[in-house]
Amino acid sequence: MVQEAVELPSGDMMPTLGLGTWRLQGSEGLRAIRAALEMGYRHIDTAEMYENQETVGEAVRDRDRQALFITSKVTPQHLRHGDVIATCEAALLEMGIDYIDLYLIHWPNPDVPMEQTFDALARLVELGRIRNAGVSNFQSERLSRALGISSVPIANNQVELHPFLYQRDLIRLCHDNGVSVTAYCPLARGKVFRHPTLRRIGEEHGRTPGQVALRWLLQKGCIVIPRSLKERHLRENMQVYDWSLSEPDVAAIDDIPERLRLINPEFEEFGE
Ligand SMILES: NC(=O)c1ccc[n+]([C@@H]2O[C@H](COP(=O)([O-])OP(=O)(O)OC[C@H]3O[C@@H](n4cnc5c(N)ncnc54)[C@H](OP(=O)(O)O)[C@@H]3O)[C@@H](O)[C@H]2O)c1
Repeated sequence: MVQEAVELPSGDMMPTLGLGTWRLQGSEGLRAIRAALEMGYRHIDTAEMYENQETVGEAVRDRDRQALFITSKVTPQHLRHGDVIATCEAALLEMGIDYIDLYLIHWPNPDVPMEQTFDALARLVELGRIRNAGVSNFQSERLSRALGISSVPIANNQVELHPFLYQRDLIRLCHDNGVSVTAYCPLARGKVFRHPTLRRIGEEHGRTPGQVALRWLLQKGCIVIPRSLKERHLRENMQVYDWSLSEPDVAAIDDIPERLRLINPEFEEFGE
């Protein structure tokens, strides 16, 4: 059973399908975000790093704010207490909104004590500038430490997840600790469309390999944020709730042997 929204510790409901917006910039990006909202997307994923918060703000301006769920992220260069607060205020100004639904530490920064960053996130929650705090790109060991430090619940961990990077243990750790999981690059940046197992399962269900990958992640209890500039693709990526994968389908995808980490910046050590 896949739900269209998951409840966060605050009681807020986070839609399990969101729109990824990396590279959705300028007039082309604005058109895509508006088209997505028009067809029913309610959750938008942006970040300080994407340099498109103004575009997101423009797209949501005439919408019912309460019906939307907006996630943004603070870069690793801005994790000191004062910087987190200032960066969040700048994001709110750029988007022209009063609060961010979910604010994430985009990447960890070992040079800044985590206590500082989580204290700032707690302050932002207290001030009502963000409704939920979370992290991104936190592996198990770091997440466990963070859970011991943060005075506010860590509502979400956004990590790379797709059929070629099934981080089963990390998903379990998150869910066991009440941390929802958002899968980024859920389509492996288009690579899922060429995989024979995903194509075969898709053909059996009359679905595309992309829909199979998204549905597999949803059946794992994850939230998905595929990105597209094209209306046809945006619409296709929404068709993930009215059908399901069988247990053998899920097992076949679990067993895909390829291992591919698409996002591996120099400053991060994934310890694989
Ligand atoms: N927290 C982090 O560190 C982090 C890192 C990376 C990404 N993210 C977030 O996750 C989001 C998603 O990841 P992503 O953008 O890297 O990759 P993705 O969503 O896995 O893949 C996007 C690519 O797939 C294509 N595509 C989308 N739907 C399609 C469809 N139905 N049929 C065929 N092709 C399709 C898109 O091309 P078209 O435009 O031509 O459709 C685009 O080239 C990002 O936008 C961002 O919001 C977060």
